[in-house]
Amino acid sequence: MKIFSIVGARPQFIKLAPLSKLLSQFHEEIIVHTGQHYDYQMSERIFKDLGIRSPDIHLEIGHSNATVQITEMMLKLEEAMIEQKPDLIIVFGDTNSTIAGALIAAKLCIPIVHIEAGLRSYNRNMPEEVNRIVTDHVSRFLFAPTKTASDILKNEGLEEFTFLTGDIMVDTIRNNSKIALEKSNIISDLSLTENHYNVLTLHRNYNVDHPEILSHVLDEIGQLDEITIFPVHPRTKKKITDEYSVSKNIQMIEPLGYLDFITLESFAKRIITDSGGIQKEAYILKKPCITLRTETEWVETVEEKWNLLINPGKQTFFEEIASFKVPENQANIFGENVTIKMVEIINEI
Ligand code: UD1
Ligand code: UDP
Repeated sequence: MKIFSIVGARPQFIKLAPLSKLLSQFHEEIIVHTGQHYDYQMSERIFKDLGIRSPDIHLEIGHSNATVQITEMMLKLEEAMIEQKPDLIIVFGDTNSTIAGALIAAKLCIPIVHIEAGLRSYNRNMPEEVNRIVTDHVSRFLFAPTKTASDILKNEGLEEFTFLTGDIMVDTIRNNSKIALEKSNIISDLSLTENHYNVLTLHRNYNVDHPEILSHVLDEIGQLDEITIFPVHPRTKKKITDEYSVSKNIQMIEPLGYLDFITLESFAKRIITDSGGIQKEAYILKKPCITLRTETEWVETVEEKWNLLINPGKQTFFEEIASFKVPENQANIFGENVTIKMVEIINEI
């Protein structure tokens, strides 16, 4: 088959990496990059770290408001699909690149595989929530990462299209953990000691687009005893102006490559985040995770008591972070050998 893998944002490259390697052994896989993320550290660096070949088609859309961005993506994706006539489209996660790819493929009657299907936060203020619901309902093959996601799809009447495959990020991290430990010097470069620092990431609109929330979060994290390493997402960087007096306890750095970032996570005392992928990685790496959100799609990590949800608008919460302890054991939530399962299903199409 001729297959389009459509990606555009950092977490999608990370999900694409193991799939692309195996898929291209059986099929003509065309990697389409929409250009949604474009900084070297957010895009090319991740491709390099994970050994993903350069995109076959780069749409170079870049940033604008969501409506213009999705529309431009759709127009260029339509052109590419009409010209190349793919038999199957694969979309990942819940970004604007995901919904643009899914809508155009649906209009052109090309079957769609949705990787990371069935996630719901039930918070319609998240642009991602709308992207997911629409993508799930126009896709033909729904690859659910967890039992919860698979149950949600069944409850929405999508049972016949649902495959509980597990989460592909498990394979990315397993395939790269050893390579990261060999290649990354991030711990010595930042003069860090194992278990004596926190990792922080923030990029959700409801956290970073409200100055009062963002400054409150930074004030709280700055009161923790340990130093906090904060690779700053470009969205967040645009919001942290000179008016912010960020605590000396927080070390702001550029976004890291994947190998450096998973090394940083691996030796941290705890991980504080609002990212979806990082909540999963914290669990897989057996690190306490504090999620600065009122809800999560990864409910199992909370049920297993490895992930603590904190409302970032809460008056004070640094002591809650400091006292959060995780149990000794954890269940396998995200599965194993996920890529092989996915490719076997695709090979049967
Ligand atoms: C997007 C996804 C989000 C995902 C996140 C992963 C949507 C609606 N959101 O959010 O689901 O969790 O990616 O990181 O698709 N920017 C740069 N350089 C870059 C990338 C972005 O400067 O390489 C800037 C953009 O110009 C924009 C801001 O960051 O001002 C936000 O970028 P955008 O892609 O719209 O959304 P994210 O917050 O990155
Ligand atoms: N990540 C990275 N460098 C960083 C921060 C994160 O490579 O500086 C990786 C991280 O390992 C994870 C993914 O980016 O695999 C998470 O992406 P992000 O937080 O941007 O998006 P989300 O998962 O919330 O959609």
